[in-house]
Amino acid sequence: MVETTQKIEIPAQFDKYPRMRFMGNKYKLIPWLNSIFQKIEFQSVIDPFSGSGTVSYLFKTLGKSVKSSDFLNFPNVISKGLVENNYSIVSQELIDRILNTKSIHNGFAFNTYKDIFFSHEDLKFIDTFWTIINSSEDDYEVSLAKTALIRSCAKKQPRGVFTVASSDKYDDGRRDLMLTLKEHFNEQCEVVNNAIFHSEEVCTSQKSDVFNHEDLESDLVYLDPPYIPKENDNCYMKRYHFLEGVSCNWRGQEIMETSKVRKIKKPYTAFSYKRTAVQTFDNLFQKFRNSKIALSYSSNSIPSLNILVDLLSKYKSNVEVFQVDYTYSFGNHENAKINEAKEFLILGQ
Ligand SMILES: C[S@@+](CC[C@H](N)C(=O)[O-])C[C@H]1O[C@@H](n2cnc3c(N)ncnc32)[C@H](O)[C@@H]1O
Repeated sequence: MVETTQKIEIPAQFDKYPRMRFMGNKYKLIPWLNSIFQKIEFQSVIDPFSGSGTVSYLFKTLGKSVKSSDFLNFPNVISKGLVENNYSIVSQELIDRILNTKSIHNGFAFNTYKDIFFSHEDLKFIDTFWTIINSSEDDYEVSLAKTALIRSCAKKQPRGVFTVASSDKYDDGRRDLMLTLKEHFNEQCEVVNNAIFHSEEVCTSQKSDVFNHEDLESDLVYLDPPYIPKENDNCYMKRYHFLEGVSCNWRGQEIMETSKVRKIKKPYTAFSYKRTAVQTFDNLFQKFRNSKIALSYSSNSIPSLNILVDLLSKYKSNVEVFQVDYTYSFGNHENAKINEAKEFLILGQ
């Protein structure tokens, strides 16, 4: 077991990464992860659970060629905008058009979510955004503008999760809750534009379940799957269905009519099931056995560290475990007992 203490400088560009509230995101652990990544020889890396895109963005700042993916659409939109994209920004012209177009009535977001999430004006703004956005012919500009919209919705929603309908209960007068979505969007365009930089290495982003990933050519694979908790659930769709919907204007999504918050039906992921957890991790390691494997995991999840080390040792001759104390500050862990945990990085080479 290795406790990494030596701090290694992170490229200054990483400061421009727009942090996002997202369950299991590795933003706070980036200095620790970076110090471990520096010990590994690699140039290409797959990040198949990209989530908020933090780790993919770090890899890009380190000059690596990164392939980001996630089984949800909105993480893919974010990585396309912030990681795959080298040059495009959301132009002032597009921002002005989105902000100044007369808002439309009776659009999908308004009709579906009125009196559930956000104000009527905010929902009309989302619908208006969707009438304008495809007028841009630059796919990266479109992804980046959608990223600004996704981030606006996440910021404006109390605790950043969409499990219960909006209520005054969480309204503590914070600025993020006071701004309209339009005002957020205007600010977020500047934030995401500021994060764009060019890399000589090709970076890509796609929407894909990890087990359908066909492109396996890479030196390293960084695995950050949903942690399977001993209790509770780890469903990303339950918490972020609105962000998933807004990232594609709910096109092709099945909304559960019986759900009070109009959730999107959750897609299957093998990482939801305790009973088959060991087999799932075995399948994951086997799939990426030709690359170096770095797995993020937490002490309060299953399978246990020992089981994971044994499984990875089936495919890799040298397995090391790095660990750090970690306190979750994210509001989804209501149970205080599970807030204190150890975060592991299990590295197989
Ligand atoms: C722990 S989070 C990743 C966090 C990310 N590294 C970050 O820093 O933001 C796990 C991610 O796995 C995704 N996911 C869940 N099941 C998946 C599957 N079967 N294939 C690909 N992605 C999956 C979720 O959508 C979520 O974004």
